[in-house]
Amino acid sequence: MVVVVTCAGRLPGREACDLFSGTWVVDEAYPLYDSLTCPFVRKEFDCLKYGRMDREYLRYRWKPSRCELPEFNGRDLMARLRGKKVMFVGDSLSLNMYDSLLCMLHAAAPPATISLSDVGVLFEDYNLTVSYYLSHYLVDIVTEKIGRVLKLDSLHGGDTWLTADVLIFNTWHWWPRSGPTQPWDYIQEGDETFKEMDRTSAFSKALFTWAKWVRLNIDPSKKKVFYQGISPSHYHGDEWGESALKSCHGETQPLNSSTYPSGPPPQETIVKEIIPRDKVTLLDITLMSQLRKDGHPSTYSGIYARNDCSHWCLAGLPDTWNLVLYAFLLAS
Ligand SMILES: *[C@@H]1O[C@H](CO)[C@@H](O)[C@H](O)[C@H]1NC(C)=O
Ligand SMILES: *[C@@H]1O[C@H](CO)[C@@H](O)[C@H](O)[C@H]1NC(C)=O
Repeated sequence: MVVVVTCAGRLPGREACDLFSGTWVVDEAYPLYDSLTCPFVRKEFDCLKYGRMDREYLRYRWKPSRCELPEFNGRDLMARLRGKKVMFVGDSLSLNMYDSLLCMLHAAAPPATISLSDVGVLFEDYNLTVSYYLSHYLVDIVTEKIGRVLKLDSLHGGDTWLTADVLIFNTWHWWPRSGPTQPWDYIQEGDETFKEMDRTSAFSKALFTWAKWVRLNIDPSKKKVFYQGISPSHYHGDEWGESALKSCHGETQPLNSSTYPSGPPPQETIVKEIIPRDKVTLLDITLMSQLRKDGHPSTYSGIYARNDCSHWCLAGLPDTWNLVLYAFLLAS
């Protein structure tokens, strides 16, 4: 496989088309699959099953301002990826995108030809394996005498990742964690160990480590590597022009706009600076996702008493992330 180097968001040969600037439009042909018949939606994302009543959020299609995303064709995608392995690496936002892709392919493949293997889901007719590798930080957490150490310049998951032909990476949402859900006690950079560090700066150091791994290990003529970009949350209404106390709860409409009032998050800018563009395609899904304050599970997930404005309902927004992935795979 050959990866063509392009500017951010531009498909090869179609430089006028920036896939990442646009608006959401209503399309009655959406959603791309029925979540109630897809066995791969885990409870966290299964909004219809857990009582979400409004349906408009299912009907939005992303319209780039100067072109169109391709129509999704699951059989075509599976044929292009015949005999290959696709792996999502990252936190539960990767899982969100993974479940979405499984449902999109499930809707196109005869169900009897789909099986679970120890490494993921196999679409037998196409000998295509799609898998998920959990990694909250991409870099390592090692248990040592002093406790659990998050090592900003150590990365050992890589050998497993290299078994895949198409890789989609993501990290950010676990970096701000503190208190009981923070899974490390110390953070280490070089020979120095710290109890605390600015989280965005720690994130960017880890991303440098990952970028170095990519430079050393990825041959773009053999593998396609994507970075999933920063998925935004909607806990603070003042970011989109409402009360700061407002969350995604009760939101049923996207912002009808091609810009987001609070602008890009700093982590998106960092990702754009650090990823090695000659080897990695950025799926810069931040802006399109910021506009989708209506797309989260909120209280309609299988998790009791949670208001989830970080993950996304399926069917829903991550289907469009996969459509963008499909557009880049088609173009190369
Ligand atoms: C967004 O606003 C434009 C102009 O006011 C309107 O024509 C369009 O129907 C709106 N779109 C949605 C999805 O509400
Ligand atoms: C399926 O693909 C794998 C590589 O992912 C390959 O090793 C294997 O031989 C293929 N099996 C068949 C039956 O083509």
